[in-house]
Amino acid sequence: MTLDLTLQRADLLCAQNFINGEWTAAASGARLAVLNPADQSLIGQVPDSAAVDAQAAADAAAAALVGWRATPARQRAQVIKRWHALILAHQDDLGRLISREQGKPLAEGRGEVQYAASYVEWFAEEATRICGDVIAAPVSGRRMLAVKEPVGVVAVITPWNFPAAMIARKIAPALAAGCTVVAKPAEDTPLTALALVRLAQEAGLPAGVLNIVCASRAQTPAVVDAWLADARVRKISFTGSTPVGKHLAREAAATLKKLSLELGGNAPFIVFDDADLGAAVTGLMQAKFRNGGQTCVCPNRVFVQDAVYERFAALLSIQVAALKVGPATEADAQIGPMINARAVEKILRHVDDAVSRGARLLVGGRRVREASGPHFVAPTVLADATADMLLASEETFGPVAALFRFHDEAEVIAQTNDTPFGLAGYFYSENSSRIWRMADALETGIVGINEGAIASEAAPFGGVKESGYGREGSRHGLDDYMHIKYLCQGNLQ
Ligand code: SIN
Repeated sequence: MTLDLTLQRADLLCAQNFINGEWTAAASGARLAVLNPADQSLIGQVPDSAAVDAQAAADAAAAALVGWRATPARQRAQVIKRWHALILAHQDDLGRLISREQGKPLAEGRGEVQYAASYVEWFAEEATRICGDVIAAPVSGRRMLAVKEPVGVVAVITPWNFPAAMIARKIAPALAAGCTVVAKPAEDTPLTALALVRLAQEAGLPAGVLNIVCASRAQTPAVVDAWLADARVRKISFTGSTPVGKHLAREAAATLKKLSLELGGNAPFIVFDDADLGAAVTGLMQAKFRNGGQTCVCPNRVFVQDAVYERFAALLSIQVAALKVGPATEADAQIGPMINARAVEKILRHVDDAVSRGARLLVGGRRVREASGPHFVAPTVLADATADMLLASEETFGPVAALFRFHDEAEVIAQTNDTPFGLAGYFYSENSSRIWRMADALETGIVGINEGAIASEAAPFGGVKESGYGREGSRHGLDDYMHIKYLCQGNLQ
């Protein structure tokens, strides 16, 4: 069956920046083409902004801060709740938009809208629960309190792999905390973000509280540098690569901005010989092939213990070979196109490098559906992967499951932690003592234990080591947008 990705509400396809409550072109008039990654057809055009547009957005956010932070938390929550309701009311259109510009199958596009909406709802609720401390004063005649305040203007910079969820889980807590926002969505997928902003406007967000500017890859440094240099911008929340995250941290030091950095991963997925193998295969299929493998928490290295290695490889290969690759317009597609030519080139380079160093190609390993477009890659299973291969140290970010062999627990702990990254890790075991040993041993911010689907608005999402710092989702996700002020009243009678 062929699906129609036409929007029911055509005005959700926005073509301008949103600054101070107005939809505006870039000052230069420059435009950026947004292409469908499946067939490279033109979906829309957005402004290709420069520093002057970023400054206008920051001016608007700074001016709106006074009013928004003074708005009672319950009133802020009501606006965010209306935004949530509008997102759900338009989930079909938003799902279509995600699938058009990002390429993921429509079921996944719709699923992402619900995922994004869950963060918006969560933080609307959390807004009403912001609490500080009343501290027992160590001397008489004093009252001491710790209160929480919004950090101020927040710059939000998001990636292309989850065009709705990443922006929602940064903007919603910022608004809930009383911050105002300047945002720049990824150059490949700005349209979903603009549609979300249109719905936020409809929800009744005051002018200037949420501003968004689009920019091409070439113009992005100018936009981001303007915010980095602006002392009024008090926080940057970024999801993307570790090199860019390090750059932001260095540059943000000049004005000591608060940072949330959700950066690259190199997730291990470990299958012990005491695991439920069926559950482990299901978990790996969920975790690895979600979004075509273009997810920061996707397993990048699959470690399987000797005794179950060949059986696991065989069971996995059957399921991977059955995955249907196709554009989002095909109702049964499970793996969409990769986002762009660079992504395809990296995936195939990793596969070629692994095979040249002795890996066994069990499934896939090549382009497919070339008549439908240049970015389709066959889901792939490689056996006999080793530490000297590129895919052992670099995030492949595609539908490639590379199986490493291990003998015992100590060895696999050493191997999995032998990476500068530490976002997510997964393991499968039915031994409860081992479960707790492994949960302690993994150097990651997130651990999936006999579970491949770990994402939830109620959980703190974030990494350790060079995967960054800060947490998104959960009550900790709101703290990231606030600072603590200590109040001390003395000389009380
Ligand atoms: C990411 O890839 O950065 C986010 C994935 C998720 O929220 O599960």
